[in-house]
Amino acid sequence: MTILITGATGFVGRHLIARLTAAGQSVIALLRHTDQLPTLRRQVAELGGQEALLTAIQGNLDHPRLGLTDTLPPLAAIVHLGARFGWKLPPDEARQTNVEGSLAVARLAQSQDCRLVFISGFMLANTRHLAELGINPEAPDQTSWDRVYRRAGAYEASKLEGALRVRQFARDQQLDYVEVQPATVAGHSQTGAIDPAQPLYNLIDNLARGRLARVPGTPDHWLPLIPVDQLAQMIAAAAVAPQPPEQLLALADDTPNLQNTLALVAKTLGRKAPTGHIPKGLLRLLLALPGMPQLMNTSPEALNFIQTTRFDLSQSQHFLQAQALAEPSATNAVIASARFYSKQAAAG
Ligand SMILES: NC(=O)c1ccc[n+]([C@@H]2O[C@H](COP(=O)([O-])OP(=O)(O)OC[C@H]3O[C@@H](n4cnc5c(N)ncnc54)[C@H](OP(=O)(O)O)[C@@H]3O)[C@@H](O)[C@H]2O)c1
Repeated sequence: MTILITGATGFVGRHLIARLTAAGQSVIALLRHTDQLPTLRRQVAELGGQEALLTAIQGNLDHPRLGLTDTLPPLAAIVHLGARFGWKLPPDEARQTNVEGSLAVARLAQSQDCRLVFISGFMLANTRHLAELGINPEAPDQTSWDRVYRRAGAYEASKLEGALRVRQFARDQQLDYVEVQPATVAGHSQTGAIDPAQPLYNLIDNLARGRLARVPGTPDHWLPLIPVDQLAQMIAAAAVAPQPPEQLLALADDTPNLQNTLALVAKTLGRKAPTGHIPKGLLRLLLALPGMPQLMNTSPEALNFIQTTRFDLSQSQHFLQAQALAEPSATNAVIASARFYSKQAAAG
């Protein structure tokens, strides 16, 4: 049976399709513009997938019932990666795509009687952070979401709200449901290939351009990472495994603290590594000054993902072992991503 993927043209989507089709799995990509299919097929082939196993259907997360007009074949699973991803998003637009669009995808999975693999984010596993934002994960209806959108920014808030509302829907409707919670996505563990719109690329770029004189936070702060190929293999396993756990944290436990991550990047780029720290509170104050986010090429929203919490990975580790998959590792992917950045910069 076929797997339907939203967000197929995105950074993670392309790697996931390559992984699934390489294993002989047929995939339908839900695309806003179906003329993206030839490019996507070429990218999938370059990543080692079988382009002949990829077809497309026109759809849009912002349209009622996803704007689907074509009939779908029976599906084994839907993987929902599609999202409006960025900083300073208008809250209504973020909510439309990331909350309403996600619920529409969940309703499609229900009508298809297939598994839903929902891609949320690792902040869903940070219970202290959720509590600080005033979110009770068990009762999304009792959360003051407008306040959360103001405090966390529209991208993160809409991802949290979307995940909790879909979780509730899945529970009420007894959907076959898996939520994969990725850390910030690093480049491919071997080639380092990473899209310029990705947050890690932005961090590498800031370091390369001398915009990172100090390390945000303290020596306890880290930016949890997962290489894109290892995330893709985890999502692929979640889509086809007989009984995956309901939540899978996708995070490389060996991710160094932020200071050492930046030191790895600096060494690879032949730059000076930032040494001293700047408290996050002070950085937030600086970023509140007019023109500073542009000057520092940093958004206050990005700072939320740099934090001190450590996570219980036992459930994910157990799943990976059962699937005979290696545990993700971040160190090589950070070096490979910085090398990839360097080559791109040299090529102009
Ligand atoms: N990257 C990370 O660090 C990270 C970390 C944690 C979680 N995640 C989550 O992982 C997922 C994939 O991330 P990514 O980095 O691959 O994102 P990405 O590269 O920004 O791709 C986003 C995808 O969503 C699609 N999309 C956006 N709006 C849409 C709409 N209205 N209707 C249909 N499709 C729409 C885009 O399609 P078009 O080609 O039409 O624009 C694109 O395929 C997202 O849900 C993200 O929140 C990412």
